[in-house]
Amino acid sequence: MNTLVIGSQWGDEGKGKVIDFLTETADFVIRSQGGSNAGHTVIANGKKYVLHLVPSGILWPGKVNVIGNGVVINPTSLVEEMTYLRDLGVSITPENLIISDRAHVVLPIHKEIDAAQEEALGEHKIGTTKQGIGPTYADKARRIGIRMIDLADPDRLQKVLEARIETANDELARLGWPKADPQVTMDAVMAAADVLRPHITNTIPAVNKAIKAGKTVLFEGAQGAMLDIDFGTYPFVTSSNTSAGGCCTGSGVAPTRIDKIIGVCKAYTTRVGEGPMVTEDAEIADYLHGLGREFGATTGRPRRCGWADGVVLRYSAMFNGFDEMAMTNLDGLDECDTIKICTGYRCGDEILEYPPALMDDWAKCEPVYESVPGWKQDISKCTTWEELPEACKAYVKRFGEVIGCPVGTVGVGPDREQTINVPL
Ligand code: GDP
Ligand code: IMO
Ligand code: MG
Repeated sequence: MNTLVIGSQWGDEGKGKVIDFLTETADFVIRSQGGSNAGHTVIANGKKYVLHLVPSGILWPGKVNVIGNGVVINPTSLVEEMTYLRDLGVSITPENLIISDRAHVVLPIHKEIDAAQEEALGEHKIGTTKQGIGPTYADKARRIGIRMIDLADPDRLQKVLEARIETANDELARLGWPKADPQVTMDAVMAAADVLRPHITNTIPAVNKAIKAGKTVLFEGAQGAMLDIDFGTYPFVTSSNTSAGGCCTGSGVAPTRIDKIIGVCKAYTTRVGEGPMVTEDAEIADYLHGLGREFGATTGRPRRCGWADGVVLRYSAMFNGFDEMAMTNLDGLDECDTIKICTGYRCGDEILEYPPALMDDWAKCEPVYESVPGWKQDISKCTTWEELPEACKAYVKRFGEVIGCPVGTVGVGPDREQTINVPL
């Protein structure tokens, strides 16, 4: 049984927690897109882990973790993350962490270009994580990228780095940004390459042979469907396909091998960075931030917050083909008197069932809400569906109806154990 776990909103839905919960019965965990813009939190064995590039399956012994060809890897960040995890007692070996030789490399110059482009955009900025993600995927599409296979041979690496740093410095100069010191880049990448070399391999046969042998594979999505470069709130998106299809192109596993697709969503909506968010609501943001919740795992930025957006989720469930939703952070609504769900967008005279394409149309959209009563009690200790308050169960069921996809699990706290199965 091979399962995709995909963020269905604008990222930070709790994918790390859901993957961790499902890893127990898996053999392989694969990341197939994004890079260190991701921050996946797992709370297990009384410890908190935040993962950026390493698949969350690394926290379970005996699992093979794969960084697929569609991921963009900053070698220095990856080495730092491996050190951070080892310091927390996690074992990382060339057997339990394998890295695709086809994955593209994020260089310090990509981070510089990311920052320079954001500054040049001024008030129109995307609000990127400044991890160099967009410029690296741009290099891939322009067919001038450096790949992990280039790290295998130090002489070749030196040549390709010298060439790319020179052209990047021209780009930086055009953006009015200081030039990068080639030696600093060279030293950083060379040092990280020495550590990563034993992990770099052709991951595609490794994964497909495992599938053929009946092993179970979990795909750990990064970001969220509305940040997808094709389906999201373009241009306020990331630079990869964060949706179900991206898992196949980013791992070399064919769609025929996928058995189940789970969409992860919060019981409400959050977003970091700029771009439209129709259900954004100052009151729920103050309430959640007041509880110490919804600060970014990668950047620490306070996340924008709002009510559940049925338009976004309905669309996302459609183009990802979700079989079911894993709803997290249901406990975040414990103290609300009334809970709102957005069922449509009012855009001029029309009620939209699906999001518009144009930013100007997004700006005109107003949420159409349906309200349901809150449950006004702590649900974090509940362990079964039956124990949840009736109003809470009614919200979960109504949520599934509005988006056209059933909720299969709910999260009532950040811990591995705080997950409840919902009878479908
Ligand atoms: P990801 O990027 O999708 O893995 O999500 P993040 O880790 O960036 O953000 C999700 C946040 O929600 C983290 O702080 C998690 O610990 C937390 N979380 C996940 N599920 C639950 C839940 O059911 N209840 C609560 N209270 N927190 C949760
Ligand atoms: P996880 O995997 C939330 C957002 C950024 C910005 C936009 C583009 O933890 O859910 P980028 O640096 O990718 O060019 O930024 O995408 N973004 C995320 N938001 N969670 C993430 O990852 C994100 N990764 C990127 O805030 O709006
Ligand atoms: Mg995150």
